[in-house]
Amino acid sequence: MSSMIGEKLRVSLFGQSHGPAVGVVMDGLPAGEEVDLDELRSFLRRRAPGGGPLSTPRVEKDEPRFLSGLAGGRTCGAPLCAVIENTDARPEDYREVATAPRPSHCDYPARLRYGGYEDARGGGHFSGRLTAPLCVAGGVAIQILKRRGVHLGAHAEQVGSARDRRFHPTGVTAGDLALPATRRIPVLDEARAEAMEREIFAAAAEGDSVGGVVECAALGVPAGIGDPIFGGMENRLAAALFGIPGLRGVEFGTGFAAAGIRGSRHNDPYRLKDGRVVTGTNHHGGILGGITTGMPLVFRVAVKPTSSIAMEQKTVDLAAMKERTIHVPGRHDPCIVLRVVPCVEAVAGIVLLDSIL
Ligand SMILES: Cc1cc2nc3c(=O)[nH]c(=O)nc-3n(C[C@H](O)[C@H](O)[C@H](O)COP(=O)(O)O)c2cc1C
Repeated sequence: MSSMIGEKLRVSLFGQSHGPAVGVVMDGLPAGEEVDLDELRSFLRRRAPGGGPLSTPRVEKDEPRFLSGLAGGRTCGAPLCAVIENTDARPEDYREVATAPRPSHCDYPARLRYGGYEDARGGGHFSGRLTAPLCVAGGVAIQILKRRGVHLGAHAEQVGSARDRRFHPTGVTAGDLALPATRRIPVLDEARAEAMEREIFAAAAEGDSVGGVVECAALGVPAGIGDPIFGGMENRLAAALFGIPGLRGVEFGTGFAAAGIRGSRHNDPYRLKDGRVVTGTNHHGGILGGITTGMPLVFRVAVKPTSSIAMEQKTVDLAAMKERTIHVPGRHDPCIVLRVVPCVEAVAGIVLLDSIL
């Protein structure tokens, strides 16, 4: 399995959803960096399950235990290892999916790949649970980035058909980036939160699920970072973002909408502002040729509707090789978009810190 990413800062995730613990190793962190554990805990709480009727009823405290890498509250240069215990696992819920794979989850392809030896309980190593240690790594990276003047934030731009406003592509401020994290539903425009909640409750009431879009922006990213062809910042971000299970697409700047716009409108004219070269618009989302331009970095990810739904679905009994139906067992999020918001911030933090180092 490849659950490692990064060049200068190498991040490796381990564990399974219904095993004893999940965890992370970060290798290459600069020494002497303070890690504010209270700030890290509040970051992890934004992702943690059991936060009310909008998420899975599985309750996990998500308290990281640091085995190495910290001394006196600061990074000490040794690999940082943090473990989060799984305290509310219920592996018996997943006996059935070993032979009757859940539609659109990883059960069937994992079985093909690992020949039945995979841990099928709750998605095993493929589970959204692995984003808990991902957020530990991201939370640490974000704290280091902030001290280097790089601020980032994400919000739920869309849940089902309910939409939030977008970050202003050129005028986004550090205040805008910090705002969604202060809200119960991570949106910029509080007035849109209720419509999002309604979408989630309506889907859940029918035993269904709903997807959406998360938008992320970063300010203060130095210009000139990244490499061409396969080493671009889009490549690095996309590769890491798809480590968040349930993602279906990534777009930078104006993204797919650029395909329907003429060059004269899509081009971002260069200007001088306080002796600095800037662009008047930001269709490029802060990256050209794979290299940062110094404009706000802006990207969006599409999140699929949770595949484990209560409704009856068609599947195949792999032991009997017969078609059958399944009511997916276990406890599931009717919508993962809200929990993906801090995960996207975490990935952006890891990739940006790795690239800056
Ligand atoms: C925070 C988080 C929570 C998730 N919770 C669930 C869940 O409760 N039920 C489910 O079926 N999928 C859930 N997922 C998505 C699955 O993990 C994902 O769809 C599955 O591993 C297959 O991967 P893929 O969708 O990227 O192909 C969650 C994902 C994240 C990031």
